[in-house]
Amino acid sequence: MTLEDLDKRYVWHPFTQMKEYASESNLVIVRGEGNYLIDEEGRRYLDGVSSLWVNLHGHRHPHIDAALKDQIDKIAHSTLLGIANEPSIRLAEKLVSVAPVGAYCNTPLQHVFYSDNGSTAVEVALKIAFEYWQLRARHAPNLLKKKKFVSFCEAYHGDTLGAVSVGHIELFHEVYRPLLFATHQAPIPTDPGCLDWVEQLFQKQAGEIAACIIEPLVQAAGGMIVQPKGFLKRLRELCTRYQVLLIADEVATGFGRTGTLFACEQEEVVPDFLCLAKGLTAGYLPLAATLTTAEIYQAFLGDYGEFRHFFHGHSYTGNQLGCAVALANLEVFNREHVLEKLPPKIARFQELLAGLAQLPQVKEVRQQGLMIGIELNVGAALCGRPAGEGNHIGLPLQEQRLGHQVCLAARAQGVFIRPLGNVIVLMPPLSITLDEIAWLCRVTHEAIVGIL
Ligand SMILES: Cc1ncc(COP(=O)(O)O)c(C=O)c1O
Repeated sequence: MTLEDLDKRYVWHPFTQMKEYASESNLVIVRGEGNYLIDEEGRRYLDGVSSLWVNLHGHRHPHIDAALKDQIDKIAHSTLLGIANEPSIRLAEKLVSVAPVGAYCNTPLQHVFYSDNGSTAVEVALKIAFEYWQLRARHAPNLLKKKKFVSFCEAYHGDTLGAVSVGHIELFHEVYRPLLFATHQAPIPTDPGCLDWVEQLFQKQAGEIAACIIEPLVQAAGGMIVQPKGFLKRLRELCTRYQVLLIADEVATGFGRTGTLFACEQEEVVPDFLCLAKGLTAGYLPLAATLTTAEIYQAFLGDYGEFRHFFHGHSYTGNQLGCAVALANLEVFNREHVLEKLPPKIARFQELLAGLAQLPQVKEVRQQGLMIGIELNVGAALCGRPAGEGNHIGLPLQEQRLGHQVCLAARAQGVFIRPLGNVIVLMPPLSITLDEIAWLCRVTHEAIVGIL
């Protein structure tokens, strides 16, 4: 049996209809090199979605490889429950030093709680925010009611049940609704009335709200939905004014994707929680961090018998390999002036995407830094064809999966991308070159025109 056969027999892939997957020919990646993935036959694919938004500096980056090898010669893992380890200490210090600062701030981010992935980074923030008010309520009983969360329409914060509770993407989340805690769903941030809605809610019910969670600047999994300028700032102000904690989920936007190290910086916002994962290890290992303020941390301090400690932790919390790699990742940002090199890349995308946006097959192009969503004009794909007949793929509209078809067409040209429904996502490693940007845009353009 080939690896591809074995994969189809044994592996259940995430977010994948396995029946369809089993009927298609699939890639088995055996190596990576810079911005490319390499399959069993030696074919190379530009990693146009950074291996699901994680890779930053390319695959097998020498400095990060060396840090990993160096660490593995010392120790791979020891627990963080009650004892410490060097890479997790050094990384926590580093993360606090690079965390967003700015005028829109309650208190700075000063403490780091580690976990394994974006969903757990969010779970940790939700649980700490909830418990913070419960702990403070021991001396101010009116705070006991602060139990609810606010999140936004089309938000995505991960797949564990707490993260799903604050998620609002119908297709992913609806089936689990009976298992979830209720949240206030604010309108999508692009709705001009969104912040007024939030303010009215806070005016009436802030006494019952623990925190508001947002993906700053871009709702990524919702389809790369870019927020209007000033939105985050105003949200921070409202949260401060009405004593609602602000959780910034930078799992997707963090580590340079939006053009700055963190998206919050662009609005000079310091949240009460900053959730990090994905790019934290530059696409090498599963590691996450939830940063929070001294004020929140201190609410959990007390004598043992007061049971104020945070009863939460994962087996691999503070894993040395992950932390060593994350430190090396931040060193690469410095050594290679990664952020300074982004503006021309962002500009090149802007220029090339302007052409794509003119296509009748494209409804809208959205871009924030190196996060790009190209929404297909699905209606136009059927134009000129007899009603009910579907397009040239020969399937009815809901089954055409045009985004998927476009990505398969790009793959045939040596570009690996993955859509969000009928939004084509481009989120390449920050190390992508100007020539590769041109090629990525050209292949995407041709694939769209070829399929629609
Ligand atoms: C904003 C955001 N939060 C959380 C998550 C969940 O991260 P993970 O898949 O590592 O659990 C994601 C994943 O795409 C995300 O985009």
